[in-house]
Order: sequence, then structure tokens, then C-alpha cells
Amino acid sequence: MSKRFYITTAIDYVNGQPHLGHAYEKILADVIARSRRALGEEVFFLTGLDEHGQKVQQAAQADGKSAQAYCDELAASWSAFVAKLGLTNDDFVRTTSARHKEVVQAILTKLHAEGHFYQASTEGFYSTKEETFVTEKERLPDGTFPASYGEVVKLSETNWYFKLGAHQQWLFDHIEANPSFIQPDYRRNEVLGFLKNNTLEDLCISRPAARLTWGIPIPFDPAYVTYVWFDALVNYISVPAALGDSIVRGATNSQPSTLNSQLSLWPADAHVIGKDIVKFHAVYWPIMLKAMNLPLPKQLLVHGWWQKDGAKMSKSTGNVVDPVAVIDDWGLDAFRFYVVRELDIGPDGNWTDTGFAARYQAELANGLGNLVNRSLSMLKRYRNGIIPPRHDELSADAAKAAADTIAHLRASELQKALHSIWILVTRANQYVDQTAPFKLAKDPAQAARLDEVLYNLVESCRVLAVLLYPFIPGTAAKIYSQLNLPGTPDKLSGAAWGGLPAGYAIGEPAALFPRRDSPKA
Ligand code: ME8
Ligand code: MG
Repeated sequence: MSKRFYITTAIDYVNGQPHLGHAYEKILADVIARSRRALGEEVFFLTGLDEHGQKVQQAAQADGKSAQAYCDELAASWSAFVAKLGLTNDDFVRTTSARHKEVVQAILTKLHAEGHFYQASTEGFYSTKEETFVTEKERLPDGTFPASYGEVVKLSETNWYFKLGAHQQWLFDHIEANPSFIQPDYRRNEVLGFLKNNTLEDLCISRPAARLTWGIPIPFDPAYVTYVWFDALVNYISVPAALGDSIVRGATNSQPSTLNSQLSLWPADAHVIGKDIVKFHAVYWPIMLKAMNLPLPKQLLVHGWWQKDGAKMSKSTGNVVDPVAVIDDWGLDAFRFYVVRELDIGPDGNWTDTGFAARYQAELANGLGNLVNRSLSMLKRYRNGIIPPRHDELSADAAKAAADTIAHLRASELQKALHSIWILVTRANQYVDQTAPFKLAKDPAQAARLDEVLYNLVESCRVLAVLLYPFIPGTAAKIYSQLNLPGTPDKLSGAAWGGLPAGYAIGEPAALFPRRDSPKA
């Protein structure tokens, strides 16, 4: 059985409602997953929830609920969110599920038996917000710790530690020898710089059950639960283990009880994550895998963070973008299009309602929507909706758009792929203006020319539907159905010019992105 293209997202903490940043990351992964399927690959797309740890325990307490009841409630609304975004995930992991906990415990047992852990007591400063000990090095000149750590308290406790010392050099070498392992390059350089200039401190992998109960019990020491990050990172292999991935099952000694298939998934082809959690994925996760003798993921694809109106999004100030409200107002595809088109994978972005409305109007309503609507409407009006004989005036433009789009999709360059597609949108709209079919239609001597123009326009719309499917699948399906074509345009091989046969009757055109005069207040 062949290995699938395996793509994951970060699993979100269930300590609140999903926001723009969560939606963005999941849509990036979904576009890549859909692209790979459209390229003919078998794909497995995993997303889910990170449910243990202090943050979640505190949120549950504040809500007056047991941690499990709190997680179950929020998990229901997060699953609904996944559906709202149109994600094509193949599974949804919850770290409180038995299949996940079994694998985490199997790994802990194995690594402990092999001598990777030791117990030690430390005295230090601890950030509950980030669930981590904070070192003296991080102290600011005024003696306080950075605000991102929240309240920092002095703590003295005994814990289990994971020895990292032997891992620093090979990890550095691996990152240096594999430029695509961490993308974009400036994130890779940050990690290389970090590994070059610091000695890795051993990782504390336990928390005393006396102060944190909401975690996976350490199998060899019931006085502790597992550090939430050690637990969370394992999600990327616990689901493969549960689904029968033999590489993972062998390396982790895990025999999950829920086995019901035999998928081959590991190593992951891409972990899509935000810039704040690079260290966990680029340092701790590879070391955990190496200790288990498992191959490393092929790529960490690191995206930036969204702000709103130039300021950090924050619930307390009300400066947030609610993706569900935007989708209800403007439609799912307008939202999916905007976040991918506006922000390349890497830099930070800034959401403004006017910026969103402007792109909607220019690129979706006046660009793509207008092209499809007038092309199909003219075919209806002048040719009763019947496709004329094939003609190839725009075929080179379409072929170039398809080739460029496919190359960008293979490289996960999603924004660049949209650029390539929009070159064809713009070209076809220009073609309408240049050939003026409404004038040709008035002159019976120009009937053959009008046939040519209409074929080129309507076939361009069909090709666009194929290229756009990974990004805006609902719109792609609408274009296909307005063309009266069966199925969905979910294979990029369908982008080859000439798919519309002469004599075929299209369906009814309808506006894809209705024009809106001004953004709703
Ligand atoms: O970090 N813009 O969960 P999380 C873009 N449970 N992305 C953002 C963002 C923003 N404003 N805010 C958050 C965790 N994100 C862990 C992950 S993975 C084994 C465990 C991104 O809910 C963030 O960068 O705090 C991360 O990739 C994801 O949302 C989940 O963040
Ligand atoms: Mg976070």
C-alpha cells in the first residue's frame, strides 16, 4: 500500500472560540491537501484539538465545568467550525481520546526504558500561561519577564527530564543540509542561529499531578502527568498509529485498540504551523522522533500572524475578526480567497474590513465573477447556450496559467498560484473588451468570429474552475454546474484546453460574487 501525502495543522487549544488565525492556518492546509488530490496524489489531512494542560484546566474552572465536559462542549463547536471552513480533513484528533493517550503512554514507557529520561529537582521561575520554566536569560533589564509569559512565579519542584544534549549537533546538521525542512528560509535561519548560539537545556516532560491533574498520566510515575507539548506533538503520529501505520507502530511499541485500517502515512510531508511554535516543531519534535528511531517530517511550513487594523487581536479589547461572521456575511469562498490571496505563507498580515471589501469587489465581483457571468450570458444570448466549434486563441494563455499554477501548488506557493490564475482572469476580461462580442453579434458577417470568441471565453471559464478548485471549491463547482458539466473539477489534468465539446448545451448563468456597494457596517 503506497504512502499518502500526509499534511497536518497545529492542533488548537480548546480554551476559547476559533478566530481568524486558526481559520487561516486550516485553510492553508486544506488548499494544499486539495491541490495534492487534484494532482492525483493520495492525501491524508489531519487537524484537531489540543485539550490538556493548565490553560484548558483554567478555562474549564472559570466556566464552572469539569475539564472533560468543557472540552466536549468546545470540541463540538470546533468540529462545526471545521465544516464551516469547508475543510477536507480525513480525521480529527482530540488529545483526550483513548487512541491518542495510548500512544503517548507507549512512547513514554519505551523512551523511559531506553534511558532517555531522568528525574531532577529544579528551582526556577515558571510561566503558567506558557506552561514552561522561564530562564534568567529571558529577564528584561527592569527585572521583569516579557509580558507574553503572563504571571511568572517562583517554583521549586521535582520533575522528569528528557536528555537533549546528544541531539544538538545532528539536528543542526540536518537543518543545514535540508533547506526545505523549515520554510520560509528566514525561519530556518532563526532556528540555525538558535542552535548555534545556545546549549539546549533538557526538556521537562512532566508536571506534578498535585498542581495539574488535566493531563496524560506518566505511565512509570503516577505522581505526574505529561507536559502538554510532549502530549500534543505526538498527535502527528498517534493518529497514524491508530490507523495502522506500520512504521509508527513498530517504532513506538504501540498497539492502539482502535486499529481499523492499514494506512501508510509517516513521515509527514508538511506540518503547517504558526511562527510562535517553531521551536517546539523544529527542535523538540525532531529530537523526540529521533529518540524513537522515526524519520523526521519532510517540511515545517511556517505562516505568520494576522493582526486586525494594525494591532494584535485580543478578546479583551474586542479587536478580533470572527471568521464565522465574515463567512455568513460574504460567503465561504470570499473568505478563503481573501486570506490566501492577501497573505503569503511567512510574513505577518493585517486584516482590515475595507481591504477585504476592496479585494472582493475588484478581484471576485469585477474580475472572476464578471468574466464568468458575461461569458456564459453571451453564449446563452447569441448561441442559445450551445458551445461553438473549438478555437485556440486563448489556449496558450490558459496553458501557461495551468503550468504556472501547478508548479506553484507543488511548491506550496499558494499566493503565487493565485497570481498565475488571475493573469488568465485579467487576460480573458481584456479579450472581451478587445473583441467586443456584443458588436460582433450585430453583424451577421461576423458570425464565425463570434463563435471563436465565445468558445475561447467559455472554455477559459472552464479551465479557471479547474485551477480554482483547491482555493474556492464551491465557486469552482458552481462554474461547472452553470456549464452543465457533471461532477466537480477536482483534477488538475482537467485544465487541458479543449474540454468543452462543440454542440454541448450549457446551463443557466448566475452571479458568483454579487457586487456590493460598500462594506456592511
Ligand atoms: O499553539 N494569526 O495552539 P493555539 C495566525 N495547541 N495564526 C495564529 C494566530 C494569528 N493571530 N493566533 C494563533 C497551540 N495562530 C498549540 C499547538 S501543535 C502540536 C500544538 C496559530 O490554539 C498558532 O500560530 O494557541 C498555531 O499554529 C495555531 O494557531 C494554534 O494556536
Ligand atoms: Mg497560542
